[in-house]
Amino acid sequence: MPHITIRPFNTSMLKKRLYGDTKLLFKAIDLVNSDEMVAVEVKGIQFLLHIKKGRDSWILKYDKITRPLDVNLIKKALDDISRELNLNILNSNITIHHNRAKIANRYEKSIEDFVNIKFPFKEVSIEVGFGSGKHILYQAVNNPDELFIGIEIHTPSAKQLLRQIELKRLNNIWVINYDARLLLEVIPSNSIHKIFVHFPVPWDKKPHRRVISTSFLDEAMRVLKKGGKLELRTDSDNYFWYSLNTFLDKHSIAIEIQKNISVGVISKYEARWLKQKKNIYDIFVTSLENSKDREVNFDFNFDGVRYSNSILEKIPTKPILFQDFFIHFERFYRVDETTALIKVSFGSFNRPEQKYIYLSSRDSYYFGLNPINSQTGYKAHLKIKEYLNG
Ligand SMILES: C[S@@+](CC[C@H](N)C(=O)[O-])C[C@H]1O[C@@H](n2cnc3c(N)ncnc32)[C@H](O)[C@@H]1O
Repeated sequence: MPHITIRPFNTSMLKKRLYGDTKLLFKAIDLVNSDEMVAVEVKGIQFLLHIKKGRDSWILKYDKITRPLDVNLIKKALDDISRELNLNILNSNITIHHNRAKIANRYEKSIEDFVNIKFPFKEVSIEVGFGSGKHILYQAVNNPDELFIGIEIHTPSAKQLLRQIELKRLNNIWVINYDARLLLEVIPSNSIHKIFVHFPVPWDKKPHRRVISTSFLDEAMRVLKKGGKLELRTDSDNYFWYSLNTFLDKHSIAIEIQKNISVGVISKYEARWLKQKKNIYDIFVTSLENSKDREVNFDFNFDGVRYSNSILEKIPTKPILFQDFFIHFERFYRVDETTALIKVSFGSFNRPEQKYIYLSSRDSYYFGLNPINSQTGYKAHLKIKEYLNG
């Protein structure tokens, strides 16, 4: 991922202005270690750059939470700022690869695209954690009249699939670089034909990180049409039994199990297990009833929340636990006398979100995109507001 190593410089040179194509919005200093965050906007996309300060050299890099999928935006911002300020660069990896297939940005979607979505295809399926993308590409090529939404948490895999879409000239795949456990919450009820979960990470030592859980199943059954199927494929005995038990607890579904069947395409992971002669299990879970519409359009505003002098001392820094969610104010940054930036994680225990809150004496908001439009996220947001109100 792009970054540059630079000699320390006087950061008061970083002013709110245009640096080439990069608009500098504000900068904020970490109250603990004096690292700095620089908020920028490139081609309409806002994100943070992180100045990590060492003794003799500093690193200027992207911030994980607000990182845009298009790496070139990060490279552009790093290049624009370092060039215009004439920073003393010790090391850099921001060369742009011109001969690579273009990233098909048209097919990259964000959570915001799903607000009041009407799908432009009659049949829509989802693949969770598509990895190398072999299966979703196979489905899209063989079913050109259907839309396939691929949700992948790993950014390089998401980018690789976008390149494949460009190379194969497909128009029926959408890619979302996000945690699928959260994303299902923004999909309308009764709208999906199939959900594929192929070879999910078993997380034997950290089961709370598994994709399959009771709440994931509830959301999956809500978004599936009546008769629609969730298809889990795994090589892990442990994950198979764990998932089956999770599914058996749910009402109004049908469960079918198969062993060592072919699904028409062999993914990278499947090839590995086949070589090792491992068993491969499929569980098909069919939704047997129509679900209620989800509640939409929670309002994530910070109306009435204003920065005050004592606010940063008053906010607790340890995680605050509630019955089915938590909030954790993790880091504090000062922008100026009357403005702060706060890094917060919140939401359900096995599907947390991370955001930055821009808190000023005039207005306050989530920097970048709002949280996922979910009941749990909204409950957490209301508590965050209470704490910020003192
Ligand atoms: C073991 S790989 C399997 C990849 C592919 N399905 C296959 O069969 O080759 C699991 C994939 O799930 C992705 N993943 C894990 N947790 C995820 C989540 N919560 N949301 C979306 N993708 C996830 C990982 O990044 C990884 O690409």
